Amino acid sequence: MFYRVPLRLQEKPLQRQMSFLAQARIAMHKLPPEGDVALETSYHDPQLPKYASFSALYYINQCAVTYDMARRLKKTATMLSVGSGASHMERFLVQGLKVPKENIFVSDIPLVERARNFFGSNSVEFSMNGEWPDFRHKFDYIIFPQSFEIGTGQLHNKGSWTNDLFFDKESPIGALLYKIVASKLWNVGADVDDSEMKEFLHLMEDMSIITGKLHVISEAMIRLKNRGKIIIVGSSFTWEELAYVVMKLEENLGTVGLEFIIPSDTQSSRYVNRTVAYNPLTFIKA
Ligand SMILES: C[S@@+](CC[C@H](N)C(=O)[O-])C[C@H]1O[C@@H](n2cnc3c(N)ncnc32)[C@H](O)[C@@H]1O
Repeated sequence: MFYRVPLRLQEKPLQRQMSFLAQARIAMHKLPPEGDVALETSYHDPQLPKYASFSALYYINQCAVTYDMARRLKKTATMLSVGSGASHMERFLVQGLKVPKENIFVSDIPLVERARNFFGSNSVEFSMNGEWPDFRHKFDYIIFPQSFEIGTGQLHNKGSWTNDLFFDKESPIGALLYKIVASKLWNVGADVDDSEMKEFLHLMEDMSIITGKLHVISEAMIRLKNRGKIIIVGSSFTWEELAYVVMKLEENLGTVGLEFIIPSDTQSSRYVNRTVAYNPLTFIKA
């Protein structure tokens, strides 16, 4: 079992160049100025829910879209975006960085007209919580651009109630969660015995949100090439949820790696302590 948990601080000069290019396009197309949040708050379609829409620049500055990724996508690598919305980032890859359109797949529920018009047969409508389509293709990257939390949050669930207990060393549940995470995720701390593991699985499976998150990650994992990456931007896994998902993935699909990238200037403090909110969170298929 191996986990890479490097704190990869950005940034390479080439990443900065991509950021400039994205900024130039924003200026060229007279898009509203933006910081790290939304370009627009709806897709100009009154029928659709009013989701925030993020720019390519946002994902580049988060190092969710990297120079290395763009370089590979320009050749033969492929990407599926789940919850692509208006697909600013995905269209930027094609229009701004000259990635062949056939290497990018977009998907959403419902599919936004602009994305469908641009990506044509590479646009698919499905819910990440349901059955995923058979793409007859494995991807190098599956990205959830600010969609994972919203998508899985729609599940009927009891919430992540273990959240409040994790740091409470006095509580037996808190102590158990901490022990499991330290042993299974951080590779430090004491071994966990079978009865502790059983109790942990039982606790976690009481939360339908975590089985929902596991479903989404598993569906993505199956559609990934070896050494492919699942990139989640805007997740808020708790440590124990992450330990649970990684253990289950390993049980069913083999080794996975984890990577957290902490862009120096965009780390959100909102989730610190309670959740693993380093952006983006990457699962790597071994
Ligand atoms: C905050 S928006 C982000 C959109 C786009 N990726 C961006 O960066 O601008 C969240 C997106 O998640 C999509 N979404 C919500 N629930 C989903 C589900 N169950 N399956 C797939 N996509 C979903 C929404 O339709 C929406 O487009």
